[in-house]
Amino acid sequence: MTATICGTGSYIPSYTMDNNDIARLVETSDEWIRERTGVIRRHIIRDETTVSMAAEAAKRALEDAGVSPEELDLILVSTISSNVILPCAACEVQERLGAPRATCFDLSAACTGFILAYNTAFAYLNSGFGKTALIIGSESLSNLTNWKDRRTCILFGDGAGAAVLRAEEGTVYLPVTHSDGRKGEALTCKSRHDYNGLSDGHCRERPQDTPDEEYYMQMDGQAVFKFAVKSVPEVINEALELNHVSSGEISYYILHQANRRIIEAVARRLGEPMEKFPVNLQEYGNTSSASIPILLDEMNREGKLRKGQKLVLAGFGAGLTWGASIIEWHRCRTNEIK
Ligand code: COA
Repeated sequence: MTATICGTGSYIPSYTMDNNDIARLVETSDEWIRERTGVIRRHIIRDETTVSMAAEAAKRALEDAGVSPEELDLILVSTISSNVILPCAACEVQERLGAPRATCFDLSAACTGFILAYNTAFAYLNSGFGKTALIIGSESLSNLTNWKDRRTCILFGDGAGAAVLRAEEGTVYLPVTHSDGRKGEALTCKSRHDYNGLSDGHCRERPQDTPDEEYYMQMDGQAVFKFAVKSVPEVINEALELNHVSSGEISYYILHQANRRIIEAVARRLGEPMEKFPVNLQEYGNTSSASIPILLDEMNREGKLRKGQKLVLAGFGAGLTWGASIIEWHRCRTNEIK
């Protein structure tokens, strides 16, 4: 038994900040950001929350799949930027959708989160533990961004993407994933729940001598860059070898959208043409666990995906964590109609 994607959806906030807007906040320029990252603008929440975006992306994915919320056995939300600590975002999405049968939980693995959500749902469905799953990546990274730090605030954006999976007969492709907690310092963000007003007074006070910066995302950009361009091609090759699939059989590599130069370097190292590496980060920036499902949804809705095509999904990020999964595109209503 394998898990096939039978519908996708996404939600993007309408409010945008382009590079010139960022240049009014910190010393940078549109030219520098475009050249070093490929990002031109990013979408930022106004009235939305991580949960509201997740629920909207989920509704669109269910509609695309022709699946009702009552059919869902599992709802997984991958996020590092949930509105609240409790309840988990997946339970809040369940409540908004009306999916009474679903088991719901969140998963925190930063920019590799959607890959791990897919793998977890795949393992559930493959083992007979449910038939229909909804996986979502949703992030309000603007809440975790230090808008005074030009090394990070140029990179990130908000949004959500979702996919509906069904247990079906088909080829099983095993995923490959890795983690290296020894390198966690490369990308960090401390919890703010004990001083940002959500506390009921029982939590530990924020130490007076702790600089505020620690409570926003902090990154060693060069270390993360080097890690990504080395580990992503390696893990993709591992997944291809493990499953006896050649790179020639892959139609698209759908990578986490962090930086255009990273994607180009991965393509070069794999010896594959850039046409196989769709890029949309110029519009959204890095939306962490939402980036892969947003891109997948765009490609689905643009009719770029065809039945039987093999795709590689690959993510990398804080933890450090990284991984690649091969999927075969099977049941897409958008394509069926065409
Ligand atoms: N605008 C203008 N100058 C900037 C700048 C900005 N936004 N950010 C940094 N600089 C400056 C630095 O201060 C430095 O100046 P100096 O040489 O006078 O000290 C210079 O630009 C080069 O800095 P460096 O950090 O070496 O730049 P870089 O080429 O590595 O680019 C990143 C920085 C963040 C764009 C790049 O490292 C990157 O994309 N890393 C991966 C990040 C990522 O994808 N993270 C998420 C993974 S999930």
